[in-house]
Amino acid sequence: MFIVFSLGVVFIAVFVYYVYSIQFSSRGLPPGPNMWPFGLGVLPSALIRKPVFNISKLRPWEYFDLWYKDYGELYSVQAGNFYSVVVASHEIMTELANAEEYSIKVSHELFTYPRTFNKELGLIFVSNPEIWVEMRKFTQRTLREFGFGKRHTMQSAIEAEVQQLLQEFQERIESSDRKGVVSIRTIFVLSVLNVLWCMVAGKRYDRNDPTLVEMMERNFSMTKSTTFIEPVQAIAPGLKKSFPWLVGEDMRLKVFQECHEFTRSLIEERKQEGLYLTEPQSYLDVFLRKIYENKENSKSIYDEEQLQSMLADLLQTGSTTTNGTLNYGLLFLTLNPEVQRKCQEEIDRVVPQHLIPSVEDIERMPYFQAFILETHRCACVVPNPIPRLVPKDWNYRGYKIPKGTFIISNHYSVHMSKQYWGDPEVFRPERFINEKGEFVPDKRVVHFGYGKRICIGISLVNSVVPIFLSSLLQKFNFSVVPGTKPPSTEPEIGVSLSPSEFSVLAEKR
Ligand code: HEM
Repeated sequence: MFIVFSLGVVFIAVFVYYVYSIQFSSRGLPPGPNMWPFGLGVLPSALIRKPVFNISKLRPWEYFDLWYKDYGELYSVQAGNFYSVVVASHEIMTELANAEEYSIKVSHELFTYPRTFNKELGLIFVSNPEIWVEMRKFTQRTLREFGFGKRHTMQSAIEAEVQQLLQEFQERIESSDRKGVVSIRTIFVLSVLNVLWCMVAGKRYDRNDPTLVEMMERNFSMTKSTTFIEPVQAIAPGLKKSFPWLVGEDMRLKVFQECHEFTRSLIEERKQEGLYLTEPQSYLDVFLRKIYENKENSKSIYDEEQLQSMLADLLQTGSTTTNGTLNYGLLFLTLNPEVQRKCQEEIDRVVPQHLIPSVEDIERMPYFQAFILETHRCACVVPNPIPRLVPKDWNYRGYKIPKGTFIISNHYSVHMSKQYWGDPEVFRPERFINEKGEFVPDKRVVHFGYGKRICIGISLVNSVVPIFLSSLLQKFNFSVVPGTKPPSTEPEIGVSLSPSEFSVLAEKR
């Protein structure tokens, strides 16, 4: 009996020592929630802090925000073999924005390697500074050549899509079983893709193109099947190989395959057309010419796999984030009739009914601009950008952060700071209007990220989102479907967020 008791005491002492020794402070990292043994990391601490029954539905950004309240603006978390430092304040994110430690992204082997032919290709996940700088500059410069960010070209591309979109809403209103009820999930995806694609590939697609519609739907589901901070995969990365269906890996691989086929056929089409050398019509053509010009250079980063990866990056980032924002905009208008009324009043005052609003018109609508910014704040469609990887041992704010640690920024904490916003959970565009009735933007709405790796799609989003929404408001009123509960603003989980599918009553004005 005595022996069993002694062994029990020794076991508990060793266990307590072991648990203590794996805590963050013993490693020089900022403190954080308790770590548990066997690679479970902070997951049990998260479930104690706020229980959820289905961990695949766990929203990391919400836990990061709870822990911000417990541990402050810089703290550590761990899952599996991955140690991370979470940055939760606008001040630290601004300080780090251009630091070397914050420009190197986590190798995407963890997440989406097969997406880019098992190589470090494309732009979004690229860590190699030379490749990243070259690709970013080339992409921005070339897209601009074809009108990206130029008001006139963007406006005509957007106007073509607005016509189609209004027609689609009208058709859905008429064909719906319950008259006027329109279901919102991916209704904007093709319109956004078309605006982008006329500069990227020099073409637009029919809204009813079955192959494309199906691919975009699947692509959308793929972005909903994981997050950049997926606890289950971090703890047990082997699941991906052994039980791909359990973590959605088989579906992701299928989408990558389809996307490869789609980009391949686009490239073949343009090569056969043969104009890319003499009269390039789009980003794709200029890229093909670049490949041709560098064909003798074995060190060139321009090849067809890189082109396919760039097309996939633009296709996959641009359309789902913007679609999510538009869905949220429509949802907030539906849930806040007074906001909708004020926006419509302003739009009617500035733009004649028969004209499609332009960016210049939007600039003369302070309340509507405030509504758009409040939509970005509350939607927070990218709550956590891709984690960064500390390239060498790093002394920061008195902590020793070892090489290989991840840095995770929690944009959600910036958008939802009670201290700063006062009532962050309330949808209130007025917070961006001053006493003179002018629109006053706020740097703490950080939906496009910070510093060197800030989003490159800003000018497209800043035209497409307000023009699509104001055009819809010119023609329709949106309200909660009578006899139903107001739709939820809870996001559908994913690498970028959008509301879960919802229905609105759309009535012609
Ligand atoms: C509302 C819509 C959008 C939002 C909220 C958004 C947000 C973001 C955020 C937060 C980042 C990451 C910054 C970081 O890692 O620190 C990013 C990067 C990026 N975005 Fe967007 N984005 C949107 C639309 C677009 C569009 C339409 C395009 C297409 C041109 C695009 C292309 C990219 C690319 C290529 C990057 C990677 C930049 C780099 O790593 O250097 N985004 N975006």
